[in-house]
Amino acid sequence: MSFSLPSKALSTITPNLRRQSTRLFSSTQKACQAEPVSTGKPELVKEFKIYRWNPDEPTKKPHLQSYHVDLNQCGPMVLDALIKIKNEVDPTLTFRRSCREGICGSCAMNIDGQNTLACLCRIDRNAGKNSKIYPLPHMYIVKDLVPDMTLFYKQYKSIQPWLQNDNPPEKGEFLQSPEDRKKLDGMYECILCACCSTSCPSYWWNQDEYLGPATLMQAYRWIADSRDANKEQRKEKLQNEMSMYRCHTIFNCSRTCPKGLNPAEAIAKIKLELAAD
Ligand code: SF4
Ligand code: SF4
Ligand code: FES
Repeated sequence: MSFSLPSKALSTITPNLRRQSTRLFSSTQKACQAEPVSTGKPELVKEFKIYRWNPDEPTKKPHLQSYHVDLNQCGPMVLDALIKIKNEVDPTLTFRRSCREGICGSCAMNIDGQNTLACLCRIDRNAGKNSKIYPLPHMYIVKDLVPDMTLFYKQYKSIQPWLQNDNPPEKGEFLQSPEDRKKLDGMYECILCACCSTSCPSYWWNQDEYLGPATLMQAYRWIADSRDANKEQRKEKLQNEMSMYRCHTIFNCSRTCPKGLNPAEAIAKIKLELAAD
């Protein structure tokens, strides 16, 4: 069913909206441009070296650009420093972020050698030591710290991450015992940030075919779900040389997960289930 507003109504609403959004925009701008509030503390300036690459300048090689931030005028997390740099020093610096509390997974990047979420990563307050920030490793880059997640999401889609059961209960919802529900703990919390997959050497070299730890843990999340009726088909899809058996149980993935999850263990459980069949 389509719904349209009469053009008169539209012409009244549009200027109102425009006025409101202009007000909102200018107040946001003011907030961004506000003079730093003095904390009374002496300056504690730290150097951040940040990976830059712009697809609009294809002849310019990727490089690290230095920015200096007074930590006493900045929030405690690396994302705070990035936002401060973007707002106050260089609006061209590009990175993803949304929730700033470890829920959306957008701000995943490599900070001082570790894949993690910038919003959960505290700035090392040792000002004598610079901090190096790169995009997630072994990914195509869209711009600066923004990796291309197309393949990652395609792989996630390939495991059909939804409940499959053609016999829904007559009344209400699918029920699950507390014990069965508990089996999903440690997996449903995954925010698909890709820190684990992009820390996995097997994924670096075989990402066209190997699904990687994030997607495999979600595959197991559905295999382990007592309400799902497609367990066997799900396992069959992984029964080949490349999709899962490229995992060599090196545990980089579990070590790096910023949510404290253990994708390597989930992969080991799939292997056990396949071996038992
Ligand atoms: S398992 Fe952890 S590191 Fe991997 S995608 Fe999920 S939250 Fe991110
Ligand atoms: S345990 Fe498997 S998935 Fe995790 S990093 Fe090692 S090879 Fe990759
Ligand atoms: S901004 Fe959402 S996880 Fe960092």
